[in-house]
Amino acid sequence: MANGKTILVTGACGWLGSAIVQALLDRGDSVIALDVMVSPAMATLAAREPRLVTAAVDLGEWHQVLRAFETYRPDAVIHAAAIVGVIQAADIPLKALRVNVEGAVNLFEAMRMTGLKRVIHVSTEETYGDFQAPVIDEDHPQQPTSVYGLTKLAAEHYGRVYSRDHGLECINVRTCWVYGPHLPRLRMPRTFVEAALRGEPYHQEDGGAFAVDQVYIADTAAGVLLALDKAQHRFDAYNIATGVAPTLRDTAEAVNRAIPGAKITVGDSGPYRHGGKVLSAVKGALDIGRAKAELGYQPRFDIQAGIEATIAETRKAMSKPSS
Ligand SMILES: NC(=O)c1ccc[n+]([C@@H]2O[C@H](COP(=O)([O-])OP(=O)(O)OC[C@H]3O[C@@H](n4cnc5c(N)ncnc54)[C@H](O)[C@@H]3O)[C@@H](O)[C@H]2O)c1
Repeated sequence: MANGKTILVTGACGWLGSAIVQALLDRGDSVIALDVMVSPAMATLAAREPRLVTAAVDLGEWHQVLRAFETYRPDAVIHAAAIVGVIQAADIPLKALRVNVEGAVNLFEAMRMTGLKRVIHVSTEETYGDFQAPVIDEDHPQQPTSVYGLTKLAAEHYGRVYSRDHGLECINVRTCWVYGPHLPRLRMPRTFVEAALRGEPYHQEDGGAFAVDQVYIADTAAGVLLALDKAQHRFDAYNIATGVAPTLRDTAEAVNRAIPGAKITVGDSGPYRHGGKVLSAVKGALDIGRAKAELGYQPRFDIQAGIEATIAETRKAMSKPSS
């Protein structure tokens, strides 16, 4: 898809959504930024950017969704809205079902009714459940162990049915643990970076040897845009990650290397638990061979470069006077 199109982004005011909106604007596309609530930051951006329009729409409300598609007539959709995270979705499972599954079906149905074909769904490695090998590709069984993974997999499968029965092109970009500046969740590496920048030692008790693919936010956004741009897809799913899985201890070490005097340590007193509570699925690295071959995807940030970019941006934000 050439630049200069109109792309509707759901979850546009969220962390990844707003990075995707900015990347689309930067290359000359027009954007309909749809979210359940328009954030002050997105409203400010829209006030000075004529190619950006905001739309306050609840994806769980069918009539609102249909009206948005009838009004804006986008060329394609990037679907990033969701109740995100293992802990969050487990805490509000019915809401996660409503947003992640019913919301996706409302979206596909509105696309079908308005004759729109292409949607890039920002999906997750949580759809795989326990990784059965240190590096897994897109054909790995999808047996999610969390409410979050289950709802995201349901959205993927609905997309397959709509693609088969109604000619939609629902493409799933499965990314892994995304990190970068302003991560909205209190999890590592944010906890590590913020403690180190405050000059405080930080010790995490569990999960030192837990290995997981960690993707810098700009690489995930780039992968999503490559999937959007590909003229013809032979596959409906791509792993967009780095292809390697640093342990949490490696990640702590990357912070220690980047900030002189930092003392971030991770122990091995138990397996990794999300939020210290919910046992994580077994993770590892995502094989990105398909994304490289089919989309020309190449991650630009390894863990050290990504941590350093995160630190640089976090430093800037911490030095700004709070308003
Ligand atoms: N952050 C990660 O590590 C990660 C990893 C893999 C996949 N993902 C996927 O990326 C996408 C974005 O994640 P994020 O980290 O930016 O999360 P986020 O919570 O920052 O963004 C989600 C956005 O969805 C919006 N939303 C929620 N309910 C809605 C509704 N009913 N109608 C319209 N909008 C609604 C929220 O307001 C929010 O702005 C999600 O689909 C998530 O599953 C994220």
